[in-house]
Amino acid sequence: MRITATDTVLVTGASGTVGWMLARKLAGQCRVLGAFACHEIVPSGVEGLRLDLKDIDAIGRIVEQAAPDVIVHLAALTNPDECECNPEAAFRINRDAALEIARVARALGARLIFASTDLVFDGKRGNYTEEHEARPLSIYGRSKLEAEEGVLRACPGAFIFRTSLVYGFGSPVSHTFLTTIIEKLELGEPMKVFIDQKRSPILVDDLARAIVAALEKDLAGRYHIAGNEVLTRYEFALLLCKAFRLDERLLVPIKMAEFGYLARRPLDSSLDSTRFCTATGFSPTAIRAALQELAEEYRKAGQAS
Ligand SMILES: NC(=O)c1ccc[n+]([C@@H]2O[C@H](COP(=O)([O-])OP(=O)(O)OC[C@H]3O[C@@H](n4cnc5c(N)ncnc54)[C@H](OP(=O)(O)O)[C@@H]3O)[C@@H](O)[C@H]2O)c1
Repeated sequence: MRITATDTVLVTGASGTVGWMLARKLAGQCRVLGAFACHEIVPSGVEGLRLDLKDIDAIGRIVEQAAPDVIVHLAALTNPDECECNPEAAFRINRDAALEIARVARALGARLIFASTDLVFDGKRGNYTEEHEARPLSIYGRSKLEAEEGVLRACPGAFIFRTSLVYGFGSPVSHTFLTTIIEKLELGEPMKVFIDQKRSPILVDDLARAIVAALEKDLAGRYHIAGNEVLTRYEFALLLCKAFRLDERLLVPIKMAEFGYLARRPLDSSLDSTRFCTATGFSPTAIRAALQELAEEYRKAGQAS
């Protein structure tokens, strides 16, 4: 479908990294409702809507009242360690609430887009396509995989995308790997960075653009949407230091196992997005070029403030 001015799009997680960027992109083209839980912020031109996914019973009433034509469900408990500590909340927010949203979407006849993750894979092979079997290592990955399956059952026309490490500038309260590195290194603090975790990082602006492309092409089912370069976090951080002129000597290369994380993470969960790129013509921005642009944007914003 092509979004028109009379459409209402509900974006959950609008106070987060991806939701903020998507809501900002859609504002002005249609009516955009940006849902949040703790952080009552949405981009300008977007109507805020409080929607706490923990309160599953309230979801139906709130979403039905909003009567969206499209629901982009991005809100989630996204920290794998928090999910590991509190599996009940992880399954409630990431799986059960998603199923309820899918049920309401179907009842309303609304298009549904749902965000999942590369962490549904065990990371033993990398370069995963949609055909590869998902075997999550963590509660976060399990909660998302179970949500994918439930969402497709409840709303068979839904579009589900699995994405990878998202980088860029999101909402004023959200953090990405990129913003965390900049904050630490600008303070002159060392930062531990993995040398043995490979992913396919994607620029948040690219992901927002890809979501719109999926809508325009009426895609349904599972797709991978990620960058087409496979990098370790350390390799990414080195490129970032170059673009942002930060001191790379503050990066402390370590192995994931040394970090003492609660949630297990795959070694190589890189994604193959060929199916999505072929269906939509989408092409992700090269990481070096994207980092140069972000650094430029960051310097200009610094000079303006
Ligand atoms: N970022 C990545 O690298 C990455 C990678 C793979 C997949 N994904 C998936 O992409 C989606 C978007 O990720 P993101 O990075 O934008 O997330 P994020 O920056 O961590 O933001 C999470 C969002 O979820 C909302 N949320 C959390 N708990 C909620 C609750 N109980 N009720 C309602 N809303 C709640 C937050 O709202 P408040 O802040 O208002 O509480 C926030 O808007 C997620 O589904 C995530 O699993 C992200």
